[in-house]
Amino acid sequence: MSFWSGQRHQSPGGFGPHLPRTLLLLLLSVASARGVTQNPKDCVVSQSEKGSSISCHPPAELPSSLPANTFHLVVEFFNLTQLPPDILQGASKLQELHLSSNRLESLAAKFLLPAPGLRVLDLTRNALTGLPPGLFQASAALETLVLKENQLEVLEASWLHGLKALGFLDLSGNRLRKLPAGLLANFILLRTLDLGENQLETLPPDLLRGPLRLERLHLEGNLQVLGKELLEPQPDLRYLFLHNNKLAKVAAGAFGGLRQLDMLDLSNNSLASVPEGLWAPLAQPGRDMQDGFDISRNPWICDQKLNDLYRWLEATKDKMFSQNDTRCAGPEAVKGQTLLAVAGFQ
Ligand SMILES: *[C@@H]1O[C@H](CO)[C@@H](O)[C@H](O)[C@H]1NC(C)=O
Ligand SMILES: *[C@@H]1O[C@H](CO)[C@@H](O)[C@H](O)[C@H]1NC(C)=O
Ligand SMILES: *[C@@H]1O[C@H](CO)[C@@H](O)[C@H](O)[C@H]1NC(C)=O
Repeated sequence: MSFWSGQRHQSPGGFGPHLPRTLLLLLLSVASARGVTQNPKDCVVSQSEKGSSISCHPPAELPSSLPANTFHLVVEFFNLTQLPPDILQGASKLQELHLSSNRLESLAAKFLLPAPGLRVLDLTRNALTGLPPGLFQASAALETLVLKENQLEVLEASWLHGLKALGFLDLSGNRLRKLPAGLLANFILLRTLDLGENQLETLPPDLLRGPLRLERLHLEGNLQVLGKELLEPQPDLRYLFLHNNKLAKVAAGAFGGLRQLDMLDLSNNSLASVPEGLWAPLAQPGRDMQDGFDISRNPWICDQKLNDLYRWLEATKDKMFSQNDTRCAGPEAVKGQTLLAVAGFQ
């Protein structure tokens, strides 16, 4: 069974003339419960009480129009450098759009206007260097925005205007060097922020100020400096990823505001020591870093300056990951020994 068979040429308001020849053909077929053999040129369509879910992977050909009840659309692995301009025309019920693994370099400002109910937009692994201002002017319902593994070097606050429900923002694996200070000020529902694997050597101290209350923050693969103020206003933070950075210092009060932390990854940094008082706010009775912590692969100098850390480990060492890779780089007498052994716990 198939929809629109024979709709080979563009429909009015469709996007036929803009498409490469190979994408013209439309053949969406219903993979019925009885298991009709799927034509490889067809996108897979499945029906549920929510509407039509349409999933296109090569060698399928893109539909020239979507059923009006489409709520879920996948167009992945086509290497498209541009989207057909009217791809979402008529899909006013669309909730999820997955466009990963294409080569999109830019998006049209009006691209999302037909789909004001969109909740998830996944643009992973494309070639975006920017977004058009106004892209999200009708996207007040968007909760999840994934821009992972694109080529963003900058991010303008104006690009995100219009987002009111954003709870999950993934900007990892780009080339960001700097973020504007007020970037996140209005995202009161943001719970997960992933800035991992960029080139952010430092962050604006007030980046996380404002009403936002994160639960999960990824900053791995970036930082040379972790300012004292950055994490202060984040009492709900539970997962903090700081591994693969070049942190040689962490300010004494840096973790002072983290009252709910369940997991901390500080592995593979340049920490030789840490200031007195850094650990005390973490893992107090009743709240014990339950999902663990990792401080391995740092050049720890295991002398009395680490006494404060040793005391903290007494209560938390059972939650410590990579114990065998958490070793002392000095002083000479203990070089190469595990930090736990030097602290007297092994
Ligand atoms: C997309 O590009 C990759 C890498 O060049 C290639 O292996 C793949 O076959 C391409 N896919 C399509 C649908 O052209
Ligand atoms: C350690 O971090 C550096 C970046 O600072 C990264 O290049 C390297 O791959 C990391 N090492 C491991 C074993 O993850
Ligand atoms: C612990 O680390 C040492 C040195 O890096 C290594 O030789 C040994 O095999 C490791 N032991 C375990 C149990 O992983």
